[in-house]
Amino acid sequence: MVPAGSLPAPTHVIAHLSDMHLIAGDALLHGHIDTASQLHKALARVEQSAQHFDALVLSGDLTDQGQPEAYTLLREIVEPVAERLRAPVVMTGGNHDERRALALGLNGADTDEPQDAVTMVRGLRIISLDSALPGFHHGGFSDTQYDWLSTQLAQPAEHGTILVMHHPPIRYRSPMMQLLDFEDAPRLRAALEGTDVRAILSGHLHVTSFGTLGTIPVFVAGGVSYVDDAGAPRELLVGVDGPQSWNLIEVHADDVVGTVVPVEQHKSWPAINEAVIAYIGTVPEEQRRAVFSTKR
Ligand SMILES: [Fe+2]
Ligand SMILES: [Fe+2]
Repeated sequence: MVPAGSLPAPTHVIAHLSDMHLIAGDALLHGHIDTASQLHKALARVEQSAQHFDALVLSGDLTDQGQPEAYTLLREIVEPVAERLRAPVVMTGGNHDERRALALGLNGADTDEPQDAVTMVRGLRIISLDSALPGFHHGGFSDTQYDWLSTQLAQPAEHGTILVMHHPPIRYRSPMMQLLDFEDAPRLRAALEGTDVRAILSGHLHVTSFGTLGTIPVFVAGGVSYVDDAGAPRELLVGVDGPQSWNLIEVHADDVVGTVVPVEQHKSWPAINEAVIAYIGTVPEEQRRAVFSTKR
């Protein structure tokens, strides 16, 4: 299809999913959520969007209890989709994951070490850093992780860096979730100052949220499994079976844009008739805005 606008396409596109909380077997999460079905639905929407993806990012709480079988299930669900999309998968652990089971299940490594990694996609560097602290639900990085990160960031990448970490380094709306936040945002902010990090992709909050760490935008994906009711009193944590979503992250030469995509396929209709879209494609580029934008 001819692109109607005249702006350049993004250099890189990422599907950012978070908090699938997979459970092995037939059990429902919190007695309500079929987590495997939710992940299937979310990935179906990724594929339905019928566009090129440079990476599939899963930002932690991949499983609910760190069961080894849940990591096997995760690979069974995600890998065929990634193959069809021809996109690398970038995964990091969350507070509901267990490091050894994650390392073994995803990388075949029998270790308690965080599975921090660098994925290069046509000049864009994606760094995944496990912010889950063993034995706790709040988040942080060890001194070793900070050292590793600054070694990686010492040389800038052609298109800069996207940092993936489960706990978002921004203020949380919920006082209960504030007890489970990223413990040292000022240190991370200082570590990233002057580097080529262009955006941070996180999860954990189960709400879609946006903020900044210094000048770096932080995009929080709202959760594939269930959502925290952001319309409920902030003192409470109320789980909702909907509106689950993922974030479409478009990386441009000079900015990064996030768009929320609902997991559920709602009732829909063509907001613009396909014939109109086809016609606009035939209008010379410099006249398209006038033709399409003029009120009639
Ligand atoms: Fe979660
Ligand atoms: Fe979490």
